[in-house]
Amino acid sequence: MAVIQKLAITQFRNLNRQYIKPGKHLNLFIASNAQGKTSLIEAIYYLGHNRSFKTKSLKELIQFDLEKFQLDAQVNEQRIKLEKSKQKTNITIDQLRLKNSSDLSKVLPIQIITPDKGFIVNGTPKNKRSYLDWGVFHVNLDFLADFKKYHKALKNINVLLMQQKSQELDDWFLEIAHLSKKINQARQDYIDQLKQTNSSQLISDLSNLFKAIDSFDYQFVSGWPKEVDAFEADSIYQYLLKSKPFMLKAKYLNYGPHKASLKFYLNQQEECFLSRGEQKTLSIVFWLTQVALMVKNNIQPVVLIDDISSELDPTKIQTILHFLQQLNIQIFMTDIGENILKTNPENTTVFRIDQGVISQQQ
Ligand SMILES: Nc1ncnc2c1ncn2[C@@H]1O[C@H](COP(=O)(O)OP(=O)(O)OP(=O)(O)O)[C@@H](O)[C@H]1O
Ligand SMILES: [Mg+2]
Repeated sequence: MAVIQKLAITQFRNLNRQYIKPGKHLNLFIASNAQGKTSLIEAIYYLGHNRSFKTKSLKELIQFDLEKFQLDAQVNEQRIKLEKSKQKTNITIDQLRLKNSSDLSKVLPIQIITPDKGFIVNGTPKNKRSYLDWGVFHVNLDFLADFKKYHKALKNINVLLMQQKSQELDDWFLEIAHLSKKINQARQDYIDQLKQTNSSQLISDLSNLFKAIDSFDYQFVSGWPKEVDAFEADSIYQYLLKSKPFMLKAKYLNYGPHKASLKFYLNQQEECFLSRGEQKTLSIVFWLTQVALMVKNNIQPVVLIDDISSELDPTKIQTILHFLQQLNIQIFMTDIGENILKTNPENTTVFRIDQGVISQQQ
């Protein structure tokens, strides 16, 4: 179980110098608008990913008029230190310099839900792939390496197509066909595992709340045309050879795992027809299933929930929290008001944020 025991934040957005000792279970951060709730969630996310879910610009993250920010956390017995300025980045885990950002997520696996990241149901294919692949990455150890190789091969193919080097394409087609097959299979296996989790006791707890959940369904879309068997490298390879003339005209590869997506249905109805409330609720169900599957695979993520109380009524929030608490994981949740406290969730550590100053409530 990943637990942030201590967290120090320095000059990150409006959080000037903070040191907190979160509780092992639910941590609730209460503040009115613009006090620093999302900034706190973003700082924790940054520690687990070495990037933000809101911006690519470092300047936006460093406190106005200053040079750098620092994040420092003790996660179980390990220490992550991250320092960023325009000139340099310094990230260490237990004083050893970080080689790959993916090592961070092994020490501090995170699952986030926030409107800032967009909801998955009726979301963009890019957003769907991002939620999907984050899950696959945690349960399939080969996935990240295959994914990187795939993107390298894709880049090479696009360069060759641009330069009209038809002869040299075939070897790369073979390579990308094999990698595609592995990626498609890993994604499909993960979806199958999610569906099994869906039918488990944990999700049936949620069905009390989300009436129509029984008929909630999703399907993997591989990114290849229907005529291709996406789980057979040879079928992909033959398709690539056959379509070469079209690709040389288009000058880029328009099919493959980089175009994959998910389709969601409720009562056989396609996602675009669902109400915003249904889309939101189903997104949360999907996301909770992902968390439950991670836990089943012995990866206890730290869960970040920002800004959803304004989107959902208190009973729904209570059910979500109850579900997560059963999984025995550490949760960081923000709220604008005191409503959630009235339901008196168990094992809760409450903090207030006032103009960037976080204080624990006794
Ligand atoms: N780089 C920065 N330096 C200093 N302050 C910043 C920086 N970036 C953003 N801010 C400010 O930090 C404050 C807190 O922003 P944050 O998004 O954390 O608020 P919030 O508590 O989540 O509010 P809301 O309830 O509206 O979502 C805002 O006033 C914002 O303008
Ligand atoms: Mg916010």
